[in-house]
Formats: sequence, C-alpha cells, structure tokens
Amino acid sequence: MISNDLQDIERRAKEELERDQSAAELENLRVRFLGKKGELTAILKQMSTLPPEERPVVGQLANRIRANIEQAISARGAEILAISAAKKLYDEKLDVTLPGHHHDLGNLHPINSVLHEVEEIFLGMGFSIAEGPEVEYDYYNFEALNLPPDHPARDTQDTFYISDKVLLRTQTSAIQIRVMENHKPPIRVIASGRVYRSDAVDATHSPIFNQVEALVVDKGITMGDLIGTLELMMKRLYGEDAKIRLRPHHFPFTEPSAEVDIQCFNCGGKGCSMCKGEGYVELLGAGMVHPKVLETCGIDSTVYSGFAFGLGLERIAMRKYGINDMRLLYENDLRFLEQF
Ligand code: DAH
Repeated sequence: MISNDLQDIERRAKEELERDQSAAELENLRVRFLGKKGELTAILKQMSTLPPEERPVVGQLANRIRANIEQAISARGAEILAISAAKKLYDEKLDVTLPGHHHDLGNLHPINSVLHEVEEIFLGMGFSIAEGPEVEYDYYNFEALNLPPDHPARDTQDTFYISDKVLLRTQTSAIQIRVMENHKPPIRVIASGRVYRSDAVDATHSPIFNQVEALVVDKGITMGDLIGTLELMMKRLYGEDAKIRLRPHHFPFTEPSAEVDIQCFNCGGKGCSMCKGEGYVELLGAGMVHPKVLETCGIDSTVYSGFAFGLGLERIAMRKYGINDMRLLYENDLRFLEQF
C-alpha cells in the first residue's frame, strides 16, 4: 500500500532526525527523503497505478507527510544550531569574577634615586658623566692623587689590595685622574660608583659603599665656584632652606681642602642628639685640585685651576630619607625598600 509506504517514510525520517547531529547530516537526510531522486518522489511516481478515486487522498497524505518532514527537519536544524551555540558559549566562557594575577611594581632603590637626582642636577649644569673601573691601579687611586706609597693618609682608607699595584678603589677620586689624562680643560664631569674599604659593618660603615665625584677644571675656577655649586646641589637635594658650611680639612689631592657640613634638619643648627650637639652634620669632602695633581695629568697649573668634591651616596640618602642605619640600604628587605 502506497499510504503505508508513505507513513513508513515519515516514521523513518523522524527516527533518523533524532540521531542527526550536524547541519550537513540534516541536509543529507532532506535530499534522501524529499529530494528529486528521494524516496517520497519515488513513491509518488507510483500514483499512476492507483485507481483514480484514491489519487487525491494519497496525494493529500503525501503533501502532509512532506510538510511534516520539512517542518521536523527545520525544527531539528534550529535545535542543532542552539546546541552548538550553547556549547560555544560554554567553551569560551570567561569568569570575570576570578581574582586577577597581581604584578608587583618595582621602584628605585633609595641610593639609585639619590644618584639619579644628583646626576640630573649636574647634567642640567652642563656636566657630563664619567666612569672608571672598580678594580683600579694604585697609581690612579693613590699615587697620581698625591698619595705616594708611604703617605700616611693611605692608612685612613683601609685598602683591599689585589696585588702590589692593583686594588679595589677606595674612592671615586681615581676617576678624576683618568678623566684629566684623557681630556683637555674645560672639564666638567661627575662620576659615581662603588668603592671599597676594609671597614667593619655597623650603622654608619660598610666595606662597600657608593660615592659621587665631581671635577671642574678650567681657566679662573675659584673656591667661589665650588661653594656656589655645592649650595645649588644641596638646595636642589634638600630644599631651599638647606644651609651648608665649610670647615678647613686636609686631602692630599686638594689645596685648600674642606669638609662640607649641612645644617641639621632636626634642630635647625641649635644642636640636638641627631647632630650630636653640633648643629651641623658632615656631608662630603671638597677642595681646589692640587697643582701637583693637575701637573701629573699634563695640565698646566699656572693656566688652569679646578675644584673637586666627593660624597657618599649612602650618607646623602640617609639624611634625605631619615634612615638611621646604613645596613637597611643593603639588606634588600622589600618592606623597607617599598617605602621609597
Ligand atoms: N675621596 C675623598 C674620600 O673618599 C673625598 C673627596 C675629598 C673627594 C675631596 C674629592 C675632594 O674630590 O676634592 O674621602
């Protein structure tokens, strides 16, 4: 019976639809059942064998079944689409409430930030930056700086010797000689770096610390230029109220020489426990470059003069930030370092 065959087609089509998973499988199924060469068409071709009065009935049934199958295919198609969209959404889901990855931001070590400040100040005055080695010849560290081998001031520097002639530099002043050997005046340089001394560690001493050295050589350079430069640097570093004073001192490589103090921030010069009653605290050493040092470097001391100074960066940073123990600067404790 044709009508039985038709109903069988509908049943099988619906059964297969349940199993189909993809849009391609659905299309395949549509072609097989409803296409020009499909099963339904094949059965309709047998209509001519039916008695005329049955034809309209079977024809109607065939149309209804075609419509049913088409409707079922499109419903299943929508379902498959919805399932794949839901799966895609699930696979690509992003939980915006999950805690993020925290990245700690680093910051400059107080020694480096003070160094950068000092460099900025001097670059702004037309200085350039010079460098020298940490493993240095005795010649640059001492001899050319007017400290011959038997000079008593060598003792105060507690030198680490590597051999008779080679040592760990005790002062960035060694760089002055290297600069003057290689450059004709006018010279305006600053140089920074680690220096080494055989000191025991305590709140104000370390066998390795950092210095910044300044050197100016030109015609007509005076002590006034030195004082003006120091005042400007200290006001930039510590504020307009910063007051300095110079005390006579001795360094073999400068004449005259001075130690430079800054007025105590704590008591404003009256004297307190922080400045040990002095009203001032020592910051650096300075002076007019000794004529012998200029001559050693091939610079005519009857034509040129110069000033120089050297300061400890740790000391500057400690004063600036109110740090009372130098060891804090080297321990790399983030709880300390993150405060700057
Ligand atoms: N080099 C000296 C020191 O380490 C500091 C110093 C003093 C540097 C006087 C200078 C200077 O350039 O002129 O104690």
